[in-house]
Parts: sequence; C-alpha cells; structure tokens
Amino acid sequence: MKVLVIGNGAREHALCRSLSLDPDVTALHCAPGNAGIAEVAQLHPVDALDGAAVSALATELGAELVVVGPEAPLVAGVADAVRAVGIPVFGPSGEAAQLEGSKAFAKDVMAAAGVPTARSYVCTEAAETATALDAFGAPYVVKDDGLAAGKGVVVTDDVEEAKAHAAGCDRVVIEEFLDGPEVSLFAITDGVTVVPLQPAQDFKRALDGDEGPNTGGMGAYSPLPWADPKLVEEVLQTVLQPTVDEMRRRGTPFSGLLYAGLAITGRGVRVIEFNARFGDPETQVVLARLRTPLAGVLLAAANGTLADLEPLRWHDDAAVTVVVASHNYPAAPRTGDPITGLDAVAERDAPHAYVLHAGTARKGDDVVSAGGRVLSVTATGKDLTAARERAYAALGRIDLDGSQHRTDIAAKAAAESATAH
Ligand code: AMP
Ligand code: GLY
Repeated sequence: MKVLVIGNGAREHALCRSLSLDPDVTALHCAPGNAGIAEVAQLHPVDALDGAAVSALATELGAELVVVGPEAPLVAGVADAVRAVGIPVFGPSGEAAQLEGSKAFAKDVMAAAGVPTARSYVCTEAAETATALDAFGAPYVVKDDGLAAGKGVVVTDDVEEAKAHAAGCDRVVIEEFLDGPEVSLFAITDGVTVVPLQPAQDFKRALDGDEGPNTGGMGAYSPLPWADPKLVEEVLQTVLQPTVDEMRRRGTPFSGLLYAGLAITGRGVRVIEFNARFGDPETQVVLARLRTPLAGVLLAAANGTLADLEPLRWHDDAAVTVVVASHNYPAAPRTGDPITGLDAVAERDAPHAYVLHAGTARKGDDVVSAGGRVLSVTATGKDLTAARERAYAALGRIDLDGSQHRTDIAAKAAAESATAH
C-alpha cells in the first residue's frame, strides 16, 4: 500500500514511524514533514492546508491511502478534497471536523447525543460573559470557540483574567470547572463502527507540578494503572458511540480519529473537549504500544469496513514520551538553535527509546529547532518506571540551547503503581 501522510509534527512522525514498520506499506510519503520524518518517508513541499495541492500530490503518487494528521487541514476540508478524487482518506470531512473546530458545535452535538460534559454558556457579549462567569463562580473556565492550537482555554481564579481572555475572542464558551484527573481516549471510526484505542494521559501545563501556562502538551504516558479497567468500555457506550451516531444522524458522518478529552470527576466521566484527529503527544505513546499493523486499521476506517477488522492487539509494555520545547515556549519560542545528540540516542537507546521530531529543520549538516515543541523522546519498558528511565536517559543525551522539558512526566503514576505491586 502506498501511503501519504499530511502534517509536520511529532504526531505525524509517530504515524510515519509505525507505518514504516508495517509490512503492508510499500511506499511512504509525507507533506510537508520535518527533518526526522525525512528518515522514514519521502517528503514533498506541499502546503498541508491546500486541498487541491494535496489531492494532486496524492494522485500523482498513486497513493492508496492519505492520512491527514493535524486539525487545521481537516477543518479546511483537505480530507474532502482527497475523497473527491477517489482516494481513501483517514480523517473527517470539514463539516465533521467542526467537532473540534467549534466548541459550541461540539456542545450542541453532546447535548443532542446525551453525552456527559460540563454545563456551559456560549457568549458573544461582555455582559453575557460576566453573567455566565458569575453563575459558575471560580475557578473560571473560558474557551475560545474556534481553533487555537491548544492555547484557547484559560482556567483561572481571577475573574478579570477570565474576562480579558473572553474580550480577545469573538465567541467564547464559559463552562463549569471539572475537577479530577484527565484522560485522553482515542477511537478509530468509519462513521458507524467505533474502535477505541488504549487510554493515555497528557501533561498540558508547561512546568513541573502542573504549573505555568497551558501548552499543546509536554508529555504523555500509557497505560493508566490508576484508571478503572472498565473506563474504555464505559466511554465507548456513553461518549464515543453516541457521538458518532449523532453525527451520522445529522448527515455529517464522522470518520477518522475521534479524540475524547475526559475528566474523571467525583460525579462520573465528563467530556472536556473533542478533537478530530490524533492527539499530540499522546499518539506517541499509544502507537508505541499498538501491535496491530497500522495501515490496515486506518484503511478500514477510510473504507467503511471497520466492522470486519480483527480486534486490535497491544503490547504489555508501558510507554512514556517527554517533549523538548524551545526557549520561551509557549509565549515566544526561539528557533534556529542547533540540536545535538540525536545520533547518540539512535546508537545507544534504540529500539526502546527514540526521538520523534516536531519543530525541526535541516540547515546544512545540522538539525536545528524550527518551532515551539521541537521533539519528543519516546520510550517503552516493562512498566512506567522503566519507560520513564529510558526516556529521560535518552533525553539527557540531547542538547538544545535554552530548551525546556518537564521532569515529572508519568512520575506520579509510576510511583503509585510501583507501591501497589
Ligand atoms: P481544551 O483545549 O478544551 O482541552 O482545554 C485545555 C485544558 O484546559 C484541558 O486539558 C484542561 O486541563 C483545562 N480545562 C478545559 N476545560 C475545563 C473544565 N471545564 N474544567 C477544568 N479544566 C478544564
Ligand atoms: N495533547 C493535546 C492535543 O493534542 O490537543
């Protein structure tokens, strides 16, 4: 199978890595890709947001499957453009991607489908916003309605900060604060059948101890030893399947990857948000644990034949990923700094630990930083403690001036499961 992946993040590197290990994949292409993806796929300098250019490339390459990674091209209708030229595509239509593209739309779908989520108000005026903030009280949760690359949500005890964030957005969703650990659960769907993957946990705040600003995600791990073993089945029945059924009922079936961001509250599971694509960095750990070759799974979703797929198989190993971010991420990331030590990781830590590139580029013989989240170091091990040790050992070999990373990814879960054994 000839596969074309669209995107340039660590998520796309993780997808390409898994696809490159799949014996069914005979040719692997990526647009636009990054310096790391270039090692496993042939890169093409095509704008991911340009549906006509992506579908022309897919046709020219004779691609038999196109996988659209990030939300922006999905919301822009890139999957529709590829589908229109008759090539199977993994990723929802632009209309269905509104589940991520508009928080107000997602709330409406959840209400219709009876999916448990935070109570909320959609506001466009300062007076409405003030009333809604007052109704819920602190901590205040204010969400930009549209896509904001993980930076559209403010959670604060300071009502003035909440109002200031709302004032900078056209339309906001104000909602009740959900208290409890967060879980990311991904499901692959063809619009009818829903196949959940293994749950993961993401670390959204920039600094250790969940301090600092929200980011796109600073690390992740899977499995979640502390989670109820029935969680996945419960979320399938109460969240994922009803949402997919409601989208089909509306005439905008959702196929691709449905990502449920969940809070496990004292009153039960609640949806924090939906995304219409694989999460980053959770994908790095979920795919590290998936044994079933990936291409056939994605193709079955694209072709509407998921009901015929064998149950997914998983490694028993745990996986941990730690993101290395640029100096000054997320506020004003500095780019263009050389990254060293990548060869040392490849020589000493593979295959149990490896680097997945995000914001990297080649400059002569050097690999340099080219974005906020620069790379993520992913490792597997017999348990979270072993995977963590490998990830941080490999990360220690990498040098990037001024870079930052969290030192506590999966630390609490690893310590708790170590004492429980
Ligand atoms: P989102 O972009 O909707 O995933 O929000 C980013 C982060 O803000 C989430 O991962 C949570 O940590 C936090 N957050 C969002 N909504 C709520 C909520 N209703 N209650 C508590 N925290 C929230
Ligand atoms: N890890 C959060 C996201 O992908 O949105």
